[in-house]
Amino acid sequence: MGNTAVSRRPPVFGCRTDAYSRARLVADGSYTSRRQATPPTLPTLTKTSITPVSIAYAIASIIPRIFPTTAPPKEPLVLDLTQPPSHPLVAASILSADFGTMADECRDVLDKGADLLHIDVMDGHFVGNLTMGQDMIAGIRRHCPDACLDVHLMVERPEDYIGSFAKAGANVFSFHLEVCHDGGRTTRPTAESIAKQVRDSGMLAGMVINPPTRPDALGPLLDAGLLDLALVMSVNPGRSGQSFMPEVLEKTRWLRDRAPASTRVEMDGGVNLNTVDQAVAAGADVLVTASALFGSDDRRAVIEAMQNARR
Ligand code: DX5
Ligand code: ZN
Repeated sequence: MGNTAVSRRPPVFGCRTDAYSRARLVADGSYTSRRQATPPTLPTLTKTSITPVSIAYAIASIIPRIFPTTAPPKEPLVLDLTQPPSHPLVAASILSADFGTMADECRDVLDKGADLLHIDVMDGHFVGNLTMGQDMIAGIRRHCPDACLDVHLMVERPEDYIGSFAKAGANVFSFHLEVCHDGGRTTRPTAESIAKQVRDSGMLAGMVINPPTRPDALGPLLDAGLLDLALVMSVNPGRSGQSFMPEVLEKTRWLRDRAPASTRVEMDGGVNLNTVDQAVAAGADVLVTASALFGSDDRRAVIEAMQNARR
């Protein structure tokens, strides 16, 4: 069930900057957009540089390219988030994983069908908790080269992390409206400018709103096609294991109606087997789950039940 939204596509090269290129994953553990792809360069020799040493160097550097000793990288796995999925996608939030065995925990939920890994970054200011950053993202990317990494930044200055998170291998970069100019902080950059920087870096741009925040400010960004994902918090951010807040369902419906079909609507907080139907009925098509998944004895059953929820 978990693989129905994942399709294998041949590598595509070029310089288009559509959302598919931003979500492209490379299975050797690196992440690049098509715009960033550069052809390999071979050493060049000029008349003045031809010496026995330079010839030996040139031969030594060319031979491994002609007779590679390692297997070529696997075909990239692509999770296309720009299309309405055939079933709700499950984003496993590693905040409730065992941090002592994080790599194995990530592999386990992916093998059991999770569609994305949700990584909660907290800076101790926007929320009181401190969690993980670029090194954790890079480590997970190395261990799970085929995973779609959905990063949720609960931080005061998300723009400071765009470059390093893109380099670490993040696919989706979601930041809070509440820290933007449009969210009421007049000395801050606008949500629009941050979203554009995120896309320019090769990631998908997501925006998050807290339970008390009205969704209106997202309207113009959605209309302009600047958001790949709108994330509705269904708990106050900061920790896992809290109770679902049904009062956010109304604005979820509003967002689903307003957003283009290419924009995903994600729900985060208190999503479990008792609340998943309400979330999906309101239009959520990406479901974040931490405690209900990692705390279960049957993780595969939890993932499949959520993927089977219907509007
Ligand atoms: C909360 C985080 C959530 C959290 C969800 O601030 O953003 O992703 O991990 O945890 P559960 O699913 O347990 O409510
Ligand atoms: Zn989250």
